Amino acid sequence: MAWKFVGGVAALLTILMGSLAIATNGEPDRSAVLAEYRRPAEIPFPDDNPYRAAKAELGRALFFEPALSRDSDRTCATCHVPGQDWTDTTPRAPRSDGGFMDFRTPTLLNVAWTETIYGWDGKFRGLEAVARTPLTAPGNMNMPPKEMVRRLSADPKYVVAFADAFPGPTPTGGPITQERIEQALATFQRLIVSGRAPFDRWVEGDARALGPAAKRGFDLFNDRANCAACHSGWNFTDGSFHDIGVATDGAIGRGRFFPNSTALRHAFKTPTLRNVARRPPYMHDGSLASLSEVIDLYDRGGIDRPSRSRDIRPLHLTVQEKADLIAFLETLNDDGAEGPAYQPIGAEPPRP
Ligand code: HEC
Ligand code: HEC
Repeated sequence: MAWKFVGGVAALLTILMGSLAIATNGEPDRSAVLAEYRRPAEIPFPDDNPYRAAKAELGRALFFEPALSRDSDRTCATCHVPGQDWTDTTPRAPRSDGGFMDFRTPTLLNVAWTETIYGWDGKFRGLEAVARTPLTAPGNMNMPPKEMVRRLSADPKYVVAFADAFPGPTPTGGPITQERIEQALATFQRLIVSGRAPFDRWVEGDARALGPAAKRGFDLFNDRANCAACHSGWNFTDGSFHDIGVATDGAIGRGRFFPNSTALRHAFKTPTLRNVARRPPYMHDGSLASLSEVIDLYDRGGIDRPSRSRDIRPLHLTVQEKADLIAFLETLNDDGAEGPAYQPIGAEPPRP
C-alpha cells in the first residue's frame, strides 16, 4: 500500500516535471546508465588472425605445453591459472630463480577486448606480440625461438595440429613458425571470457538480481565515487593508463615510454573488474591485499603528486558506502560453474 503510494507520487512527479529520474517502482531509472554495461554479442578477432577451430585447439594445447619452456617446467598456465581466474595468488609473478618479477600476473579474462596495447605499462603491441616475452625471457620460460620451433617440429602430434590450424597450399599444410605459435596462442586466449554474473542479469532487466546494497554501490560507482570514469563499459576498463596514487616504489609505469609526460608517470593500465572480488591481491604490484584496502586507497585519494589523475580525489565515504561499493563489485563475479572458463571451441566463432 505504502509502496503503491510512493510509486504513484513518483509517477505523478515524473509527469509533472517531465523528468524520468524516478521510475514507478520507487527506484531511480537507471536504464540509460545500464545500457552502457551490456555484454557484447561477439568476440572480436582481427582480420590478420581470424578465428579457426583448429587454431584455437592448437593454441589451447600450446598454452598448457611444458615443452615450450627450456627446462620443460613452466607453461603459460603456471601463472595464468584457469582455476584462479587466469592469474595467480602471489603479489608479483614468480621467476624461475626463486625471485619475483616487477609485476603481478594480470588476469587474461576478456583480453580479446583490449585495444592493441597490453601489459601494465603498455609494453606489448597486440595480443599476438605478448607471448614472445614470457616464452623467451630468462627467469621465465627462457626458450630460444629456434629451439622452440625445432622441438615442436619433432613432435608428430604438433606437425598435424599446425597443418590443420594453418592449412597451406601444400598437402602437408604450413610449417611450424614462431609467428604461428603466437597466432594460435592469441586465438585461444580470445576465448577466455568472463561468464555471466548477477550484474549482467540486472543489466538485462532482472530487478532482483542485485540486492539494495549492491544497487547503492552501483550508483556510487557511477556517480559520486567516479569509478566509471576509468572502469567503464561491460569489461569495466577504458583500456587506458592512469596514476591513481598507488605507492609505486620507484616504478613509473607507462612513464617509462613517455619520459616527458607528467600524466603518464606512475600510470598503469586500468584492469578489468570482472571476477575481481575473487582474485586478490590487487594492483600492478599486488600491493593491496583486499578489496577493502583498495576502497580505502580511493577514499584517501592515494598519493597526491603531479601525475595523479584528476579523476582521483579524497572521497570521504562512510562505512556504509564503502561496504556498498564492495557489495556491488561482488556482483561482477560470474557463476564460475559453467566449466573451464573459456568458450567452447566449435566450427563457428563462439559467442561470449
Ligand atoms: C612467470 C609467470 C608468467 C608466465 C609463465 C606467463 N605470464 Fe603472461 N604475464 C605475466 C606477467 C607478470 C604479466 C604482466 C607483464 C607486464 O605488464 O609487463 C603478464 C602479461 C600477459 C599478458 C598481457 C595481459 C594484459 O591484460 O595486458 C598476456 C596476454 C599474457 N601474459 C599471456 C601469456 C602467455 C600466452 C604465456 C605463455 C606463453 C604467459 N603469459 C606466460 C606472468 C606470466
Ligand atoms: C583515474 C582512473 C581510475 C578511477 C577513477 C578508478 N580506478 Fe580503479 N584502477 C585504475 C587503475 C589504473 C588501476 C591499476 C593501478 C595499479 O595497478 O597501480 C585500478 C585498479 C583497481 C582495482 C584493482 C584491480 C586489480 O585487478 O588489481 C580495483 C578493485 C579498482 N581499481 C576499483 C575501483 C573503484 C571501486 C573505483 C572508484 C572508487 C575506482 N577503481 C576508480 C583506474 C581508476
